[in-house]
Amino acid sequence: MKKIGLADLIAPISVQEFFSSNWPLEPLFIKPTPGKLQTIFELPQLQDLELLIAARQRQVRACLPDFDDEYSSIHLQPSDALKAYRNNMTLVFDSMQSQDATIAASLKQIRQDLGLVTGGEENDLCKARSIAYATPAGCGTRLHFDANANFVIQIQGTKTWRLAPNESVDFPTERFTTGSLEMPAALEKQCHAHLIDELPEDSMTCVMKPGCVLFVPRGYWHETTTEEDSLSLNFTFSQPTWADVFTKSLQEVLLRSPEWRELADGLEGTDAARKEQAIERFEFLVKNLTEELPGISGAALLSEGGLI
Ligand SMILES: [Fe+2]
Repeated sequence: MKKIGLADLIAPISVQEFFSSNWPLEPLFIKPTPGKLQTIFELPQLQDLELLIAARQRQVRACLPDFDDEYSSIHLQPSDALKAYRNNMTLVFDSMQSQDATIAASLKQIRQDLGLVTGGEENDLCKARSIAYATPAGCGTRLHFDANANFVIQIQGTKTWRLAPNESVDFPTERFTTGSLEMPAALEKQCHAHLIDELPEDSMTCVMKPGCVLFVPRGYWHETTTEEDSLSLNFTFSQPTWADVFTKSLQEVLLRSPEWRELADGLEGTDAARKEQAIERFEFLVKNLTEELPGISGAALLSEGGLI
């Protein structure tokens, strides 16, 4: 099986250098090197947009022009995608790994090279996915940050990225787009300062041309513009937190106990007595757990949760 790994993706930067200087917090822009990522550039469906659409067996997302953000999008049949593109709508091809074995194998290899934990296929904590973006000239994405880490390979055309560190929230677990009317409740609790609505003047500019690779860390502000048609391929990884790891492994431990498997009965509803009884029951379980926890090692939890 043909595939690329992290070393191929970030060459000529070494994996060691990437781990010590970039991953997971600092962006990295890598200029093209002759012959780099040939395995990806040779894929038939990445040769042009028509071939990408022809290879598509599931729906394509088309970004609505109202908000310049991929989350304001509609699903289209592949047969309608080109029409939307010609009407200046960015096309998003989710789950590229499901339509190409090389992309699937590369995605898995890069995830493993990064050391990202999944915890098994069910409730996968990492949700590694590959997404292709076809952006017409004169379009772009408004300023936002993502809760995942992104590796972007520019396949065709040019896309200009502007990036800046996030001084308002560390390790966000939610994405945010400037101009959104509502902020996710979880994010609101995580911010320690107001979010910006435009990039500072000293932000980093990367002009992505074919063969360029960009690592965009989770939470890092970015916006994009295109002056010509652009096609890029992303490898995207959710960022499993220690909280995810702990709750997933603890859940496995708890579910071995019949008491913790009981129905959490009566917590909601109008019956005050039942509600009080439910809270009391939960207090009892939590108290017992806190007494047991000191005897449980982190390694044992991880192993129980299938995380190591
Ligand atoms: Fe993004």
